[in-house]
Order: sequence, then structure tokens, then C-alpha cells
Amino acid sequence: MTPKDAAANIKEKLLNAGFPDAAFEAEQLTCGVLKLSAASMHLSEEKLSGGQIEALENAISKRLSHQPLQYILGEWEFYGLPFSVGEGVLIPRPDTETLVDAALQFIGDREGLKIADLCAGSGCVGIAVEKHTESCSVFSYEKYPAAFRYLKANIKRNNSKANPVLRDIEDGPLSDERFDLLVSNPPYIKAEVMRSLQPEVQFEPDTALSGGTDGLHFYREILKKWLSALNVGGAVAFEIGYDQADEVTALMKAAGLQNIQGICDLSGTQRVIIGTFLPQSNGSKAAALENSIKSS
Ligand SMILES: C[S@@+](CC[C@H](N)C(=O)[O-])C[C@H]1O[C@@H](n2cnc3c(N)ncnc32)[C@H](O)[C@@H]1O
Repeated sequence: MTPKDAAANIKEKLLNAGFPDAAFEAEQLTCGVLKLSAASMHLSEEKLSGGQIEALENAISKRLSHQPLQYILGEWEFYGLPFSVGEGVLIPRPDTETLVDAALQFIGDREGLKIADLCAGSGCVGIAVEKHTESCSVFSYEKYPAAFRYLKANIKRNNSKANPVLRDIEDGPLSDERFDLLVSNPPYIKAEVMRSLQPEVQFEPDTALSGGTDGLHFYREILKKWLSALNVGGAVAFEIGYDQADEVTALMKAAGLQNIQGICDLSGTQRVIIGTFLPQSNGSKAAALENSIKSS
């Protein structure tokens, strides 16, 4: 059996089991397991060894049990960069590239900014921002050791200067920490939706997905605890769920942020909300923080 025959077999099995992207996944699995480019996979006439066939069978049986393709491959691309992924860490999603775009647009050609990536997971957001700016310092905060291991590995893999910090963001910043930009793709799925997630997503950690009863727990926590570390003129940019734009905008307004804007992802859904902390925000900041605390 050649690699191309193996890909055809895998495609057939996936199709029979009702996987919608069978052809794409079969190619990804074959190339990933055999460490071949797509071109070599199609052209190679070399017969597979027993070990290679076994490795492919192992991969297909994992996929048929709905393990995410990305976990089986052990890596996934985000913003043109490679990220190691596996059990214990959220798989970077294409929608999250909108958050990186928003951060890079805010940074523009300014140099030396300090950026916090809160709830960093694989590190994809902070690392992508750091790799696309000249002299910004990025600090990537993650609470859970399993995800933190991937964060550190991905910083190394991408030769990034981002600084990994193992910390519960609910503890807030240290008293001397100051930032120009807070970016976060926090867990934001509502408790009731958690129960109906597709089987693949259920392999990902609940701690990366669950945003409490109304999905807004982490937005409140960050606005309540981290704005004190934001320099005047700085900004907060959040990734949000497809139906959270109004609620997150209201929380940001209540926290005293200004120029609040929604930014759409490629499918036209508002995916990022960004707001700026301007001098006028100062007067209302204490009251606003109080309000946002009361509503949590
Ligand atoms: C939705 S995932 C986002 C991961 C990554 N930023 C991305 O966009 O793919 C949220 C991450 O927040 C982490 N997390 C959850 N609670 C946390 C907390 N209290 N402090 C720090 N990180 C937390 C989870 O472990 C997970 O890695």
C-alpha cells in the first residue's frame, strides 16, 4: 500500500462514519503520521512498512472515537505559526486570529509596549503578537500546569520572547505590574451549553471552556481586577462568543472603558470587543469598577 492508497482508505472509513471533511482529514492524518508533505504523499510509490500501517490504524481508530484531529497530529497552525497541542490544552481556533489582528492594529508602529495575554493556553495569541511586533514585551498568564507545559513548549518552538507566567488571573496583577494592552480569549461557554458540546470539544479541558452560569465570569474578573494595571491610553481586547457582544460591551462600558468597538471574524460574527482606557475614564473608574463588581 502506498501513502496515497492509505489516504484513500482512511477517507473511505471517515466517510462511512459520517465525518464531513473526510478528504481533508484523511490527507492531514496520512501526512501527519507519515511525516510527508501533501505533494510527496500523492507522488510516492514507496510501500508502507508494517510499523507505518500500524501507526495509521492507531490514528484512524482515535479519530473514529472523535478524538480531535489536532490532538492526534500533536500540532496545529495558528497565524502562520506551528503550535504543539494535546490533552490539557485548548486547540487554537481560526476565529482567535481576529484577536491577534485587533492587538496588532492597536499596537501599530508603537514600540516598547507591555502586553498581557490572560488565559494563555497554548500561548497562541501572545506568541503570535510577539512574533509580529518589533519590541513589545508579552507576558502570557496561564493557571493550569497541563496547559502551561504547552505554553512553554510553544514559546520555545517558535523562538518567541514571550514570558510564561503560571498564575491564576483571578488573583489579579502584582502591585508593580503595568500594561498597555490586555488581550484575552477566556473560557466563555455558558454552563447550560457545556452539556451539549460536540464530541470533539469534550476532549478539551472544561477549565478552558466553561465561563460559568452566564459565560461572562472571566470578563467580569478581568475588568474588575486587571484594569488597575492598565496604563492610560491602554486597551483591553477580548475574544467573545458569537452571542456575547452586547453583554461584554456593557461590562466594558460599566468598567469605564471608552471607544468600545466590535470586530468581526471572517464569517461576519462579532468576535472581538476592544475598549480603551483614556484619561476621561479616570473619574468614573472607581464607580465603574464598583458597578461591575456589583453586577457579578
Ligand atoms: C479559551 S482557552 C484560550 C487559550 C488560548 N488563549 C487560545 O486562544 O487558544 C482559556 C484558557 O484559560 C485558562 N484558564 C482558565 N482559568 C484560568 C485562570 N483562573 N487563570 C489563568 N488561566 C486560566 C485555561 O486553562 C485555558 O488555557
